[in-house]
Amino acid sequence: MSLKSNYRDGDSFSRKSKKEGYRSRASYKLKEILEKEIKVSKDQSVIDLGSFPGGWSQVIKNLLGHSGKLVAIDIQPMEPIKDCFFLEKPIEDITEEDFKEIKEFVPFDLVLSDMAPNISGIKERDDSLMIDLVDRVLFVIESFLKAKGSVVIKVFHGESLDYTNNALKERFKNVKIFKPKASRPNSKEIYVIGKELKII
Ligand SMILES: C[S@@+](CC[C@H](N)C(=O)[O-])C[C@H]1O[C@@H](n2cnc3c(N)ncnc32)[C@H](O)[C@@H]1O
Repeated sequence: MSLKSNYRDGDSFSRKSKKEGYRSRASYKLKEILEKEIKVSKDQSVIDLGSFPGGWSQVIKNLLGHSGKLVAIDIQPMEPIKDCFFLEKPIEDITEEDFKEIKEFVPFDLVLSDMAPNISGIKERDDSLMIDLVDRVLFVIESFLKAKGSVVIKVFHGESLDYTNNALKERFKNVKIFKPKASRPNSKEIYVIGKELKII
């Protein structure tokens, strides 16, 4: 596919999200990942890190049934989604008290992170900020992911990709790097998927 037609596809995802009632075109990135890689069942518990404006949370909510659970976290206030427990906080400020508040939601079957730092354009700085966020996700995995649970983490091509790929290979049986069609081809973003958390 040419770069030009890929751009056209990118725009069509924005139009599609408006038409189908999703809050962001990012919804289609997660939809593709879930269609190809991870099955979400109706009764599962999921945490969505970096959830604003809520496109990924909407996708998950549509897959969960009455007994399913969803927690979303972002620095920015997010318009409510029915039955989604939202915490407005930077992930680095989440305390033990916050986790006590969400104890009915843990352990999680799936940890999602679409978090990204504010890009400075200075590669070393951006990579290091992304790695800090990945470390927070690893903490959530180690503390609250079920054995055999899965994770999806957004990173950038380069250092944060290598770091995350290695970290997940140590912890998960099956690790894949995935660039969804809805991710703009000129974007540095890429997703690392870990399936089947190993019991160490
Ligand atoms: C690309 S957006 C997420 C889009 C979302 N997945 C969707 O489908 O609508 C990235 C989000 O990460 C959030 N974010 C960045 N750093 C964060 C942090 N330290 N803690 C929590 N959220 C953070 C930003 O506020 C931003 O809303």
